[in-house]
Amino acid sequence: MATFISHSPAETAALGESWGRQACPGWIIGLSGDLGAGKTLLAAGIARGLGIAARVQSPTFTLVNEYLDGRLPLFHLDLYRLTSPHDVVTAGLETYLNRPPGVAVVEWIERWIENWPPAPPHGVRFRRVEIKLSGENDRELVYEDFGG
Ligand SMILES: Nc1ncnc2c1ncn2[C@@H]1O[C@H](COP(=O)(O)OP(=O)(O)OP(=O)(O)O)[C@@H](O)[C@H]1O
Ligand SMILES: [Mg+2]
Repeated sequence: MATFISHSPAETAALGESWGRQACPGWIIGLSGDLGAGKTLLAAGIARGLGIAARVQSPTFTLVNEYLDGRLPLFHLDLYRLTSPHDVVTAGLETYLNRPPGVAVVEWIERWIENWPPAPPHGVRFRRVEIKLSGENDRELVYEDFGG
């Protein structure tokens, strides 16, 4: 388990960028944290680290945005409007969450993983990230990897 203290949006994006540079196929980066915690900002940094040029915004109306112009495909999911793993399956998002054909970044991952700890399938690395607000511009990012 690791903790990163961010003092600005730029620092959060830079952390994401470093993860994007390291990412391998089959990575799932699951994000939890209140509204405005910085999940989308972190996702945008990951996209930049993968060499994706497009501007990353929350996929609020589509559930998933795909970015295919980087070093690896990026799937950005936002499960906020779903209520349970059953909804996630009904929405057809299960493949991304079991074995993404690239990197999956998932906001509101707790809608999918209810039981702790997660048991990723062989070949999948799951990074769980919890972002806590500790001040107007301060965030505490606690993260831990599972599987490999
Ligand atoms: N250190 C920081 N790290 C990240 N964001 C910060 C930080 N300080 C301030 N912010 C601000 O917090 C907001 C984070 O917004 P963002 O859309 O990334 O949150 P989110 O977790 O995706 O929210 P939502 O649940 O609504 O999707 C931005 O307005 C950003 O400028
Ligand atoms: Mg968001």
